[in-house]
Amino acid sequence: MAAFNVLVLIGLGLAITVAYGRTVRKPRMWSDCTSSDSPVKITHLDISPSPVTLPGDMFFSLKGYSNRTMGSSRLILNIVRRLQSWPYIEVPIPCFFNIGSCTYADMCTLLDEMVASNWLGISRQVGQGIQRMLEDSGVTPGLCPQPPQVITIDKRPLPLPTIPPALYWFAEGLYRAHVRVIDNSNGQELSCIHVDIEMKRSRQRCSSWFGCLF
Ligand SMILES: *[C@@H]1O[C@H](CO)[C@@H](O)[C@H](O)[C@H]1NC(C)=O
Repeated sequence: MAAFNVLVLIGLGLAITVAYGRTVRKPRMWSDCTSSDSPVKITHLDISPSPVTLPGDMFFSLKGYSNRTMGSSRLILNIVRRLQSWPYIEVPIPCFFNIGSCTYADMCTLLDEMVASNWLGISRQVGQGIQRMLEDSGVTPGLCPQPPQVITIDKRPLPLPTIPPALYWFAEGLYRAHVRVIDNSNGQELSCIHVDIEMKRSRQRCSSWFGCLF
């Protein structure tokens, strides 16, 4: 009887360790919170490597489709940094010079604006990278309205820049982004997703020992 109890305890311990290990080390990378009557459906999303290294290439995969023509829509980003894997302590990331937890009024012109204004010296490279990624995947960036379409982005590289010191909160760690797209013509939510991304600074590019710390 005692031996049986010990086995049960060990089994239980293992089960808890496995369950725990899963939640702590492998959080589900993304989840969809879009309502079922939305014209947009994302069926697959993947970001690699994990952690994403800055500067460096991030590889982006996405599959999805839309079933009606869409014009101007706004993009709402809400980003928190998760300081500890469990229990989660979340620190909200601000919107700083259009980078971070910001609302972008019109996605039709967003990429062109990122390229033209080069916010904090980094948005041009990212905007051009996204434009290239979309073009390579058969989507015309900046075309408005966008026709109903099937989108397949298959592991396209997105070169990420060196993050300027002013954005120190994007240095390293686990981030959760809540992404919402709202149709400007009727207020309908087109897309709602949560994405978890772990980011890391590349150690090779530090200008000095001090530069590596901040
Ligand atoms: C497509 O259209 C209908 C409305 O006609 C909607 O209910 C449906 O969920 C839409 N979305 C997708 C992604 O199929």
